[in-house]
Amino acid sequence: MTDALAVGDELVITVGQMVHGGHCIGHAGEHTVFVRYAMPGERVRARIDRRKGSVRFASAVDVLEADPQRVTPPCGSFGLGACGGCEWQFAPVSVQRTWKRMVLEDAFRRQGGSRVAAQVDWTGLSVESMEPGLESGLGWRTRARWRSDSAGRPAFRRAGSHDLIAIPDCAVLVPALRSALRSALRATPGALDAPPGRDVVAQAGLDGRLAIQVQEGTDCVPDSTQRATVSVRNRTWRVQPGAFWQAHQGLPDALVDAVLEFAQPAAGQCWWDLYSGVGLFSAFLGDAVGATGSVHAVESSPQADRMARRSLHDLPQVHLHKQRVEEWLDGSSAPRPHGVVADPPRRGLGTVITPLVANAPERIILVACDPVALARDARLLVEAGYRLGGLRAFDAFPMTHHLECVALFTC
Ligand SMILES: C[S@@+](CC[C@H](N)C(=O)[O-])C[C@H]1O[C@@H](n2cnc3c(N)ncnc32)[C@H](O)[C@@H]1O
Repeated sequence: MTDALAVGDELVITVGQMVHGGHCIGHAGEHTVFVRYAMPGERVRARIDRRKGSVRFASAVDVLEADPQRVTPPCGSFGLGACGGCEWQFAPVSVQRTWKRMVLEDAFRRQGGSRVAAQVDWTGLSVESMEPGLESGLGWRTRARWRSDSAGRPAFRRAGSHDLIAIPDCAVLVPALRSALRSALRATPGALDAPPGRDVVAQAGLDGRLAIQVQEGTDCVPDSTQRATVSVRNRTWRVQPGAFWQAHQGLPDALVDAVLEFAQPAAGQCWWDLYSGVGLFSAFLGDAVGATGSVHAVESSPQADRMARRSLHDLPQVHLHKQRVEEWLDGSSAPRPHGVVADPPRRGLGTVITPLVANAPERIILVACDPVALARDARLLVEAGYRLGGLRAFDAFPMTHHLECVALFTC
């Protein structure tokens, strides 16, 4: 009886395509069932994890008819009941990228609408590898966040739950961070110096040194000694782990290249960099517009603002505004921008689009880590008279369903 399908029930199901969130979609009676740990076309035994109306979310617990491309997960901490970090370890990285590409197009067709989707050259678009020629999908993450468990050991979230699980290893971390985590777990409880129940965030620098910061609630405890040295092109930042920095070691360079390619900033222009973090894009926009131009960078995190002030002091044309974007747009007296770069959190721009387009920038470059939010924003921008002039996608989070996109809008 599929109609019951209560949490904990099991069913045998052949699943269809991969959808947003890393699940394959399937159908059982009246129910749509989203199944994780499955590849499209596989027949699996799945256990219901949660329900929402007639929709069910399930995990494949046994693969009855496997896709021949399925691989043994390289990380020993992967799987149901284990670490919830990387949900796609059972698929080759090249296959993961084809799924991301499909999910992106699907998001643009559904949330963007046919008018927006028609502005993308889908045949020419692929999700770009961050490590061509080195396709393990491991050893890329320079940042990690964990919570110390009751014994003071670093612990991640158990898959599909808020429970903590102290795992022996994490193969997606860069070597310095990976070995620090391993030795912290081998050492006596509390060796990482984080009281039980506290969030810890770590950033690896280029030199392999780690900066580790223990958080108090949602605010970082200020710790001026804990900085990691990171650099992009000719510029170096010393970042505290609590300030935002892109997680993939290759992503800051790739994003700067993509943003500048779409922006084509020129001397004397005014650019806005919204959700600017420690000033990654502002630095290079500032170089391009020169002393006769200006860049207005808007960022709400005090910690990121401090890092930006220290790192960009040689660029007086970059004006840093420690403020929420919504409030800054409301009261800003900054000159009308030639172009805007916006890199909002996962939810996307949403209602910020109205005051943004009221300033009529010729170019808007949107950096987005959620394809559905990007497609929704693209729809709003196209409705406001912009055209989608370019789209690039990066495999910035191998072994997970996440990807990073950069889109150009022109008017
Ligand atoms: C995805 S990060 C991008 C940072 C930067 N562009 C980079 O690539 O390093 C988003 C940033 O937006 C900031 N932020 C979140 N909500 C904000 C808001 N309402 N106004 C201003 N900044 C915000 C966060 O603190 C974070 O630094």
